Amino acid sequence: MSATADPRSGRLPAGEVRAMFDRIAPRYDLLNRVMTAGLDGRWREAAAAAADVAAGGSAIDVCTGTGDLALALARRVTPSGRVLGVDFAENMLEIARQKAGERGPSLEFVAGDALALPAADDSFDAATVAFGIRNVSDLDGALAEMARVVRPGGKVVILEITTPRRLRGFYHAWFDRVVPLLGRVLGRDGDAYGYLPASVRRFPEPPELARRMSQAGLVDIRWRPFAAGIIALHHGRVPSSPR
Ligand SMILES: C[S@@+](CC[C@H](N)C(=O)[O-])C[C@H]1O[C@@H](n2cnc3c(N)ncnc32)[C@H](O)[C@@H]1O
Repeated sequence: MSATADPRSGRLPAGEVRAMFDRIAPRYDLLNRVMTAGLDGRWREAAAAAADVAAGGSAIDVCTGTGDLALALARRVTPSGRVLGVDFAENMLEIARQKAGERGPSLEFVAGDALALPAADDSFDAATVAFGIRNVSDLDGALAEMARVVRPGGKVVILEITTPRRLRGFYHAWFDRVVPLLGRVLGRDGDAYGYLPASVRRFPEPPELARRMSQAGLVDIRWRPFAAGIIALHHGRVPSSPR
């Protein structure tokens, strides 16, 4: 591993991010449940609700991982809608596909890069990303891609871990000590869970993320915190008038 690819810097080349998620895929869901005390499902449901998709609608879930947000969206657009989950880590996608079972063409998981989404312009009612955009090397590029594939008037939704304004001491103790320890013990991967707190620290705080969404051309941007400000749910709309 080169000096520029230290996981504790919170920045890794895309190939190393992909390899890391391929490695931890079998233990990813268990670690999520333990680290969030089972609250992560609720946050993804809130993200699915913010996407404003109903029966017959369509959504793309970027950095879909093991597919939980894509599944929440699929429950909303069923039976005639369509959800596409995109991720570049095949082992994560394999677990997503197992969970989706026999849902058929309404829910599909494909390999792809958040910076070059395998979708045409204006082709979805909503684009979502949960706990993924922080890992993408070019935040503005990822926002632009999500905005590109959503039709005018559609939603872009981002669920992400963030640094709270209060309880910073507790938060840093949890993230810098407990999370890497759980990662080493349960995930058998100290690097991955040393990378996690560092990647959160270097990610923009909520007002700055809202500004970057606006810079990507989105309008009506709102955000709300969950879990005492540890999690932020941002959403915005692609303008209805021609871009
Ligand atoms: C922390 S996981 C989140 C998975 C899922 N969205 C969830 O809610 O649990 C981050 C995911 O982002 C994916 N990822 C990171 N950078 C990516 C990129 N540039 N293109 C596609 N997927 C990417 C990783 O492979 C990983 O599966």
